[in-house]
Amino acid sequence: MKYFLDSAKIDEIREAYDTFGIDGITTNPNHIMNSGKPFFTVIRELAAFVEEKGLKGWGKFPISVEINPHLDDADEMVAMGKKIAAISPNFVIKIPCTEAGITAARRLENEGVRTNLTLVFSASQALIAAKNHSLFVSPFIGWKESSGEDCEQYIQDIVDIYANYDYLGKTQIICAAVRNGKQIVDCARAGADIVTAGLQVYKDSFYHAFTDYGLTKFQNAWDKTEIGE
Ligand code: E4P
Repeated sequence: MKYFLDSAKIDEIREAYDTFGIDGITTNPNHIMNSGKPFFTVIRELAAFVEEKGLKGWGKFPISVEINPHLDDADEMVAMGKKIAAISPNFVIKIPCTEAGITAARRLENEGVRTNLTLVFSASQALIAAKNHSLFVSPFIGWKESSGEDCEQYIQDIVDIYANYDYLGKTQIICAAVRNGKQIVDCARAGADIVTAGLQVYKDSFYHAFTDYGLTKFQNAWDKTEIGE
């Protein structure tokens, strides 16, 4: 399963890439706002990052960039998607899962611009994303679980439906808004392609107190042992 970093902060992206070997980035208007920089400045920084790392192309390191969320006309969505996509071959255009959004996504895909259908909260929405050939579909986990829904079956349903109709891998499932290690494991168990989460989620999910305990124990043993040549 691939790990994407959900962030638009270049220092976090560098750390996540160098430490955990993340496979891509997802951004949204919230992350861009939190970076404190103008939209086009941030996305040009992301484009420069993949150039620097030799990761050019969405096939090597996809970066999802969301269009203006106020747009509700497919023509305007397509125009903005093309403008963003022209900046970097790594950019995948993130489009809301609305009727105008799916119309725009299909048109962009037909013209060779890859898309990520976002704000997906049901398997029936995910099915339409795949029928229309989006590269990615982003079912949100954290928001649903915060409101009391268990999402393991939700992701399992999407995986099963995609398998039934040969969509698996063609439209890749990004489990989004992932909040903890249990959710990562749930998504992996269900067979999702990708999870996307913030850096701290990956750090917390990777930490285990027994690892530290064991390390201290072995350091003590090492210190009491003659090492020799
Ligand atoms: C995913 O692609 C989204 O950017 C993200 O997960 C949104 O949710 P959050 O900001 O609540 O984590």
